[in-house]
Amino acid sequence: MSRKIHPSVVGAQPFQLTARETFDGPIFETPEGKERLEMALSRYPQKQAALLPMLHFVQEKKGWIEPDDMAQVAEALDLTPAYVHSIATFYTMYNKHPVGRHLVQVCTNISCHLNKGEEVLERFLAETGARQGEISDDGEFTVIEAECLGACGFATVVQVNDRYFEDVTPEKVADIVAELRSTAVGTEGGS
Ligand code: FES
Repeated sequence: MSRKIHPSVVGAQPFQLTARETFDGPIFETPEGKERLEMALSRYPQKQAALLPMLHFVQEKKGWIEPDDMAQVAEALDLTPAYVHSIATFYTMYNKHPVGRHLVQVCTNISCHLNKGEEVLERFLAETGARQGEISDDGEFTVIEAECLGACGFATVVQVNDRYFEDVTPEKVADIVAELRSTAVGTEGGS
């Protein structure tokens, strides 16, 4: 689903796209940064309320949020860097370290646990060659264990960047990894 048909400034949860960008200069002086900030500010009575959407925006573009980004978000919203840091570090879904082109989050919570979630996780680690939480040598993957992804009826659930893979079994993992490897940068569906 492209941005054009999914225009919400506030995604349901933070994610990242495969087309990673670094901001060439201050984030909110880029045309897109300016537009996203203005959209967010127009929706809320207080600037502070735009904090999570702006952190979403940074992660979506860069894949992770570093201290300088937090400082820029703070300045744009008239908040202190310490406050923004406290919020960004409270939510585990904001990446505070770089991640591979595909961030693979395997749910091992109760429904997924009962449907071989741990085995699915192990297969992803084996297929990608990544160590849990680290970027694979080819830069393609970071694989982590996730808490409930809110789709328990479709266990095991795996979130890859902004996409959900449902009913994943250990046997399906190799095909998913092959598909991801062949995915061109910036072609994710947004589903
Ligand atoms: Fe895995 Fe809820 S337990 S999605």
